[in-house]
Amino acid sequence: MYFLVTAGPTREHIDSVRFLSNPSSGKVGYAIARAAAARGHRVLLISGPTYLRPPEGVVTSLVGSAREMFDASKHAHPGCDCLVMAAAVCDYTPAEPVTGKIKKTRENLTVEFVRTPDILSSLGKEKAGRIHVGFALEVENALENARAKLLSKNLDFIVLNDPRTFGVDTMTATIVDKGGVIAELKNVPKEKVAEVIIERAEKIHSSRAKREDCENPGGP
Ligand code: CTP
Repeated sequence: MYFLVTAGPTREHIDSVRFLSNPSSGKVGYAIARAAAARGHRVLLISGPTYLRPPEGVVTSLVGSAREMFDASKHAHPGCDCLVMAAAVCDYTPAEPVTGKIKKTRENLTVEFVRTPDILSSLGKEKAGRIHVGFALEVENALENARAKLLSKNLDFIVLNDPRTFGVDTMTATIVDKGGVIAELKNVPKEKVAEVIIERAEKIHSSRAKREDCENPGGP
């Protein structure tokens, strides 16, 4: 299979030396890319800024902003079998980023932010037979919100986690598909979550291939 994996935060520049971002370390996305490569899959990792070394055997493309991640993902998406959107994409970006440095001349500074493209939702419209996996970072009504995202973003399954996941090596994750909760992983290494995600995607992929064989036994 060919996996397209996104990881890490994005940076939305206010001026040339300041930006809005979040504490995502990229560890989950990199673990997913590594797990897929270790199981013999082709992987493209599109990563926001992190301190991690690109995984071996994985083509890695580094991006900065949500717009750059969107452009790179949209470009690679037609060729992939499975998209795993593990990146913590900023939802807002400054309306008018300044080239150079904003000087400290005013007492107050107001910055207007506009929405960034929702990469998963947008690619969801061009999903066809691909497998799409999303993450949901929730602080309240977690399961309900994760289910809503699963449906609105047209996903095969979603990995629900919470902000305590940022930066640490373990996580608690609930994996949900249209039928309900399919796995609950409590305080496990991020590598374990990565493995479960890849195994699940492989299962969906092979059951679709079998179904296509049955529907079209003579081949194309
Ligand atoms: N995502 C995306 N593009 C964005 C924002 C999020 O593709 N501009 C993806 C994330 O990578 C994740 C999923 O959408 O897989 C859900 O992200 P999350 O931050 O939990 O939710 P949002 O859709 O941003 O909604 P909200 O912040 O209102 O909860």
